[in-house]
Amino acid sequence: MTNDKISVLHFPVLDSTNRFALEIKDFSHLTTVVADSQTAGRGRMGRSFYSPKETGIYFSLLLHPEFSAEKSLFLTVMAAVSVTEAVIKYNKNDVKIKWVNDIYIDGKKVCGILTEGSINSEKMLDYAVVGIGINVITPEGGFPEDIKNIATAIFPGKADDNINEKIVAEVINRFFDMYNGNDTDFVDRYKKYSYLTGKEINIISGEITRAATVLGITDDCHLLVKNENGEIEEISSGDVSVRLK
Ligand code: BTN
Repeated sequence: MTNDKISVLHFPVLDSTNRFALEIKDFSHLTTVVADSQTAGRGRMGRSFYSPKETGIYFSLLLHPEFSAEKSLFLTVMAAVSVTEAVIKYNKNDVKIKWVNDIYIDGKKVCGILTEGSINSEKMLDYAVVGIGINVITPEGGFPEDIKNIATAIFPGKADDNINEKIVAEVINRFFDMYNGNDTDFVDRYKKYSYLTGKEINIISGEITRAATVLGITDDCHLLVKNENGEIEEISSGDVSVRLK
């Protein structure tokens, strides 16, 4: 799979497409690393990402963005909107983005996104890797015990031939439209797809858990909440995780 600007490296199995993409970070080309399965798929905050063959697709976009580290969150946002709109094409249920990096269908996770990178001395991004893992069909026998109540797939049963390639192509095309500046209102769409807006949540930061109500998403894609003292706060992604109450 190639087009004139993006090289796609496709493997039957890798430990992690993010790890592989970080290893080849000096490739000057826009490169996408795709794997049919991963043996050590990684998620945010040191978690693992379930990556079996045949039922999911796992890929990483290697980028050399010319913007500041501050704006790196927008890469995750572009990926989240791209996946959401690709999923909506195939699944007409309630597809939403759970701030900051998860895509949900009917309240269950169908996709996770992990953006990793490096910042230089001028606080610019040297490179970034945007890793995307999508549950395409439900594994035979269901998801493993630890995620069976929180995970879902685009298709509950069988899907078309070559569906993985179609989904990767859909996501990549949408992502690069935003990345190259041809599609500019993706933050508004990110806000529109927000799963958490209006919901009661717990904000977990290390050992500390605080309750809050989500008011919305800011233009910087921070989470806008009202805390237990009635104060309005902006939460930036950092090492915070957010759970529904
Ligand atoms: C999360 O849910 O916390 C993020 C999961 C990100 C998983 C994808 S799968 C492709 C890429 N390679 C990895 O090792 N992780 C990301």
